[in-house]
Amino acid sequence: AATRHYKFHIKLQNVTRLCHTKSIVTVNGQFPGPRIVGREGDQLLIKVVNHVQNNISIHWHGIRQLQTGWADGPAYVTQCPIQTGQSYVYNFTIIGQRGTLFWHAHISWLRSTVYGPLVILPKLGVPYPFTKPYKEVPIIFGEWWNADPEAVIAQAMHTGGGPNVSDAYTMNGLPGPLYNCSAKDTLKVKVKPGKTYLLRLINAALNDELFFSIANHTLQVVEADAIYVKPFETETLLMAPGQTTNVLLKTKPHFPNATFFMTARPYVTGLGTFDNSTVAGILEYEPPSHSTSLSIKKLQLFKPLLPALNDTSFATKFTNKLRSLANAQFPANVPQKVDKRFFFTVGLGTNPCQNNQTCQGPNGTMFAASVNNISFALPNTALLQAHYFGQSNEVYAPDFPSNPIFPFNYTGTPPNNTMVGNGTKLVVLPFNTSVELVMQDTSILGAESHPLHLHGFNFFVVGQGFGNFDPNKDPANFNLVDPIERNTVGVPSGGWVAIRFLADNPGVWFMHCHLEIHTSWGLKMGWLVLDGKLPNQKLLPPPADLPKC
Ligand code: C2O
Repeated sequence: AATRHYKFHIKLQNVTRLCHTKSIVTVNGQFPGPRIVGREGDQLLIKVVNHVQNNISIHWHGIRQLQTGWADGPAYVTQCPIQTGQSYVYNFTIIGQRGTLFWHAHISWLRSTVYGPLVILPKLGVPYPFTKPYKEVPIIFGEWWNADPEAVIAQAMHTGGGPNVSDAYTMNGLPGPLYNCSAKDTLKVKVKPGKTYLLRLINAALNDELFFSIANHTLQVVEADAIYVKPFETETLLMAPGQTTNVLLKTKPHFPNATFFMTARPYVTGLGTFDNSTVAGILEYEPPSHSTSLSIKKLQLFKPLLPALNDTSFATKFTNKLRSLANAQFPANVPQKVDKRFFFTVGLGTNPCQNNQTCQGPNGTMFAASVNNISFALPNTALLQAHYFGQSNEVYAPDFPSNPIFPFNYTGTPPNNTMVGNGTKLVVLPFNTSVELVMQDTSILGAESHPLHLHGFNFFVVGQGFGNFDPNKDPANFNLVDPIERNTVGVPSGGWVAIRFLADNPGVWFMHCHLEIHTSWGLKMGWLVLDGKLPNQKLLPPPADLPKC
């Protein structure tokens, strides 16, 4: 295994998209940020130096951070942010993981411009469990605002209303030709005929699940959230923010000079303002160098058909196809017994208007969101530090409820009172607790799927369904054999998911909706996993350069 050093200089850079030039926060002046590549077993040392006025922190989304919670990155959870002029070295080892993940800023809405691919290759000499690709191509989806995203969220939080939606979706930072003033900012992927390509697809968008498709081509899904899956073919993919998918693309044997659209646009189930525009890139066939049959000279531009904006039936069918490989080499270690069961409601709600003007949320209130009716409030210091240095009493309460405070019929008429409670509460778990968590969407204030992301763990998605979860009937149908293992799962609008994980990683682990606006509104909470008895079951001491608040 190797030690790999990276330097991330957080600095401003002028970037132009859609004919708008603006100064954005970047890593090393790049947008999207640099690609990090490592191998399973490698140690990564990434020095982040902050040259901008904003506080910053970086999260390595999906990295388990075994014993190294200090390097996880969510601001005010595992660390205080890195202030102007300061630096911090994220120091962690990639243990037992390989695949496609990504990194992103984890404070306010800075991840709108501060993000990039994180590619973990298998150990040297270890092959993929699928056809060796001729080439690998990372494609990271994002959003572009002509306005400053920090101003967008600040305004939404002040007025209590919904935020302005972005102006474009992007692939590798490029909106593509279907937007005005954007044709020159189009992602082009050049391919040779008759080869196999591995596309590493990452949804880093702030607020949208996305469908993705390439005209006239079938994609074979081989991995999700850096876990190998049973391969299956599909024309279209669905990815929630925070999810990654690896697909094999077999190029056709005889398409010299042909070009095909690759497009993505949102999947939304609810009402409200959304942007239904389409980001497009181009798959471009190179003519085979030896060929004499360059008959198709004419440019062919095929557009794929994407499912309708609210095609929940497609979404359900697609997610049901995702299964762990679950073979001898890559077993699915699904916890078979459960020590602790939790039932969390996730959804929107309201808070009283905080300022003197009328708020723009429902009935003059402010939009809020909650888990079990608690809208999580981040403290002014970091939760992990408070825990480690024994200042927990002043910072958080260890009594996050295991069940909803105000149960109701979640898929019937919503309650009249949609107010949420506010608090900084954690669930405390002894080391190695086997957890089963059912997350139920509440469908208050419009229906929307919630991509819940858990830091520090992968979990198995053992069940999902529509309507209210029935604890007497539904567990009988749980898949404990080959469920998908991942770090982000969509809680379906008007439905529920059940996950299982083993709490074998000591630290404070954030769990939140990866729709950034829902995180801002409070759809987040934390798990505190205590140290085990053995030395390799304890959180390591904090590094000397850990930022202070
Ligand atoms: Cu990718 Cu806490 O997030």
